[in-house]
Amino acid sequence: MDKNTNPFNPGAGVSPPELAGRSEVLETANTALARIKRGKHAKSLMVLGLRGVGKTVLLNQIKDRAVSQGYLAEMQEAHDGAELKQLLIPVLRSRLLFHCLMSS
Ligand SMILES: Nc1ncnc2c1ncn2[C@@H]1O[C@H](COP(=O)(O)OP(=O)(O)OP(=O)(O)O)[C@@H](O)[C@H]1O
Ligand SMILES: [Mg+2]
Repeated sequence: MDKNTNPFNPGAGVSPPELAGRSEVLETANTALARIKRGKHAKSLMVLGLRGVGKTVLLNQIKDRAVSQGYLAEMQEAHDGAELKQLLIPVLRSRLLFHCLMSS
């Protein structure tokens, strides 16, 4: 196997060459994104699973789809001992500032 082209490239949050077995959940996310854009109710989606099953990769994929549909989206990883507001405030602040700058 040529090391330069070997598709086996594991790593935390690293997108695989093929996101296997996730079409159903991606479809659910697409439906929610499309419905919310139309001002309709959509079920929230929570991605749960053991370590390394692909939660981060899946959330990144959903985020990319949201951005490509015109949503403002940010990824923030939570961890033990951190208050949610302390994690969210800097992310929301920078997103708001960026949005204000781009629209001025
Ligand atoms: N659907 C998939 N098909 C093929 N490979 C995948 C898939 N989902 C994830 N992987 C691969 O598995 C590895 C772990 O993925 P990821 O970091 O998203 O897992 P995680 O659930 O977020 O892990 P952790 O619990 O440690 O945060 C990565 O190398 C990723 O490319
Ligand atoms: Mg992860």
